[in-house]
Amino acid sequence: MSGVAAPLRLVNLPRRRRTFVGRGDELAELEAALRGGGEVVVVAVHGLGGVGKSTLAAHYALMQATSRDDERLNPVWWITADSGPALEAGLAGLAVALQPELATVMPLEALAARATAWLAAHEGWLLVLDNVVEAADVRPMLERTLTGQVLVTSRLSEGWHGLDARLLQLKVLDEPEAIELLARIAAPPLAADAVPAQAGQGLTEDLDGAAALVRELGFLPLAVEQAGAYQHQTRLTPHAYLGLLKHQPAVMYDRAARGANAERTIARIWRLTLDRLADVPLAGPVLRVLAWYGAEPLPRTLLESLNAGMAEVQHALGELAAYNMITLNRGHFPNETAALKCVFMALMSLDPTGQGRKRWTMRWKAPLNAFQIAFEGRLTPANF
Ligand SMILES: Nc1ncnc2c1ncn2[C@@H]1O[C@H](COP(=O)(O)OP(=O)(O)O)[C@@H](O)[C@H]1O
Ligand SMILES: [Mg+2]
Repeated sequence: MSGVAAPLRLVNLPRRRRTFVGRGDELAELEAALRGGGEVVVVAVHGLGGVGKSTLAAHYALMQATSRDDERLNPVWWITADSGPALEAGLAGLAVALQPELATVMPLEALAARATAWLAAHEGWLLVLDNVVEAADVRPMLERTLTGQVLVTSRLSEGWHGLDARLLQLKVLDEPEAIELLARIAAPPLAADAVPAQAGQGLTEDLDGAAALVRELGFLPLAVEQAGAYQHQTRLTPHAYLGLLKHQPAVMYDRAARGANAERTIARIWRLTLDRLADVPLAGPVLRVLAWYGAEPLPRTLLESLNAGMAEVQHALGELAAYNMITLNRGHFPNETAALKCVFMALMSLDPTGQGRKRWTMRWKAPLNAFQIAFEGRLTPANF
């Protein structure tokens, strides 16, 4: 496979964020660290959940995929690497993108090995390994890679030694950036004939209390974004929203762990939003199903397990997206893992009543085993 040339612009990045703010220093730092050339360079961006690691990585990757011809990297490939099997599926996806005819003739594992071999034999590429949970999951793959750029994001600040990875700890936004983000998201949509405002102009009144609010939210982008979406939907000022938030008891986790404050803030925001969505009965269950699957993009058909009308599910999805609790994408299968999950759900639905379950599980033992391996720990017999 090392003789295979990459198709022009092999890129699979998440959707661009129109609301991106700040991070100038971090982008420059990534550029300087990763653009060293020669040997493989690994940078691990670490920090709290919701601080903006994936967003920063996506922004950097997009810059590399769209820069001037002589500097452009290719492929620029994004893998959600939150488990060994997820990494394998992502690498297999790359192998298939490089050589589509392989898709039907090789098992996942062999495809992943192909991609790793291709990466080892080429330079000028960028791999994003997003949301690595255990450094051990990506270590074997990285040890086989000699040239190219790897950008890892992870909540872990430790475990990267021996990989020669440079660490970049991502901090929360500073106050002006957080206010800017809040303003961009909370701003009411412009009327079609409106003259676009200068930055900040016309927002002063709507931004009453913005500084106090972003401070309360700990300048965490995820929190700022969700609070902004709530304000956008309800036309509340930051001051009024802060008032609501202060009435939300901060009971959630009784943990002293790092990040517990941020988690508590997020929990309060979620409560507020779910209370607000009380007339959308599926909002809670949909969110719960999605949370069970983790950060992986999922096809909507998965939510059929809720046994609700698809129109109701769509409505709940629309409302949750409006409040920035989830992100909706076009397309059925954003990646291979999502497709696999869909097949799994199809298998499950072959016996929707649960009668004849025993026979059913025997007949489907092989695929079920494969799914057990692929979604390690997330499928238990109780789910069958
Ligand atoms: N620099 C930024 N500008 C605008 N929005 C941001 C920025 N960083 C993060 N966000 C928003 O905050 C949320 C959490 O960011 P994300 O990158 O998913 O965090 P992490 O990967 O660290 O858990 C995302 O929905 C994202 O849109
Ligand atoms: Mg992330």
